[in-house]
Amino acid sequence: MSEAPAPGPAPGPSPAGAAVGGRTVSLRSGDWSALSADASAVRIEVFVREQGIPAEEEWDERDAVSVHCVAYSAAGTPVGTGRLLPDGHIGRMAVLPAWRSAGVGAQILQRLVELGAAHGHRVLELSAQRSAEAFYRRHGFVAFGEPYDEVGIAHICMRRVCPA
Ligand SMILES: CC(C)(COP(=O)(O)OP(=O)(O)OC[C@H]1O[C@@H](n2cnc3c(N)ncnc32)[C@H](O)[C@@H]1OP(=O)(O)O)[C@@H](O)C(=O)NCCC(=O)NCCS
Repeated sequence: MSEAPAPGPAPGPSPAGAAVGGRTVSLRSGDWSALSADASAVRIEVFVREQGIPAEEEWDERDAVSVHCVAYSAAGTPVGTGRLLPDGHIGRMAVLPAWRSAGVGAQILQRLVELGAAHGHRVLELSAQRSAEAFYRRHGFVAFGEPYDEVGIAHICMRRVCPA
């Protein structure tokens, strides 16, 4: 396993909010101490309330060593999140239902891929819920191995080469 990533860029909105699907979001990336409240709000809504994942399985020790990305509405409320682990795994990708299919997830994933490259990873991996496999494939991830069950949800491993 590689070293824990250096803390991400100082938390703060991206210079200009990007309009997606007629909406404007801004991204912040940083460590858990900076973004835990906002990332948690989205994860509770999506993984615990919507998908029924037990709350005690949603948080783990890897949050503290990951770089997190949170997308904010123009009003400043968190609407999406994801994390990059020290070993180059991307995870906990979630966008609030009302904000889906507007490119928010794509922007978060793109930021995490850029952070992965900045941390020197050559390959990024993730464990995709099968329902989101097409989303990741659209962003260059390729499935490998056999599908498996995790917290009662079908998953598949995926990976992509990092941009140079
Ligand atoms: C996966 C997720 C983060 C994508 O966020 P998003 O903001 O909707 O992503 P984008 O707008 O960039 O891309 C949306 C596209 O991804 C695909 N997609 C994403 N999630 C999907 C899902 N659960 N079922 C079917 N298609 C999905 C669709 O093709 C969609 O395209 P469409 O708008 O033409 O239908 C979001 O759907 C989500 O939070 N899902 C619930 C939690 C989850 O499954 N997380 C992934 C864990 S591995």
